[in-house]
Amino acid sequence: MTVSIGVLAEAHLRSPALRFLLEGIPPPFLLGLDSGGGLARAVLCNGETVGFLSVTPERDAMMAIHPDHQRKGIATAALALARDVAVNEKAMTRVSAMAKAGRSSGGLLAKFGAVEVDRSGEVILYRIVLAEV
Ligand SMILES: CC(C)(COP(=O)(O)OP(=O)(O)OC[C@H]1O[C@@H](n2cnc3c(N)ncnc32)[C@H](O)[C@@H]1OP(=O)(O)O)[C@@H](O)C(=O)NCCC(=O)NCCS
Repeated sequence: MTVSIGVLAEAHLRSPALRFLLEGIPPPFLLGLDSGGGLARAVLCNGETVGFLSVTPERDAMMAIHPDHQRKGIATAALALARDVAVNEKAMTRVSAMAKAGRSSGGLLAKFGAVEVDRSGEVILYRIVLAEV
């Protein structure tokens, strides 16, 4: 299995996985992130688009892998690649991420050293340090 990431482009948005995952998220918003101080990447497994990750200019991070491709280590591998891009190409030092308590994302976030900084009902706000300044 080869996991890679690529700058998010229209072609990725037309893939079945992203059409499913991005329902309700306007494509122009995501496509504009890279040039607007954020980051948007398609996640590919063996060349097939299976998910995406994004960071807004305000450093709010989001990620999703299509359910057909989950639990194979794809998010873990993609986040390791994205962290290098975020630190070395985008000079990002920390990001925030929101996740619901008890969801699969908790284990993934823990792998990347996420620390809970706030909680409102079921929703937890995490902070992840990417690089020490
Ligand atoms: C969270 C998500 C991105 C993980 O993607 P993935 O490719 O399946 O993740 P991985 O296979 O790399 O697993 C990473 C870790 O996440 C946790 N995890 C993933 N799926 C899980 C599940 N179904 N149940 C429990 N833990 C789970 C585990 O800790 C896992 O590590 P392990 O396999 O060593 O136990 C995916 O489940 C998803 O898209 N969920 C919906 C969107 C979301 O919650 N996004 C995160 C908030 S921004």
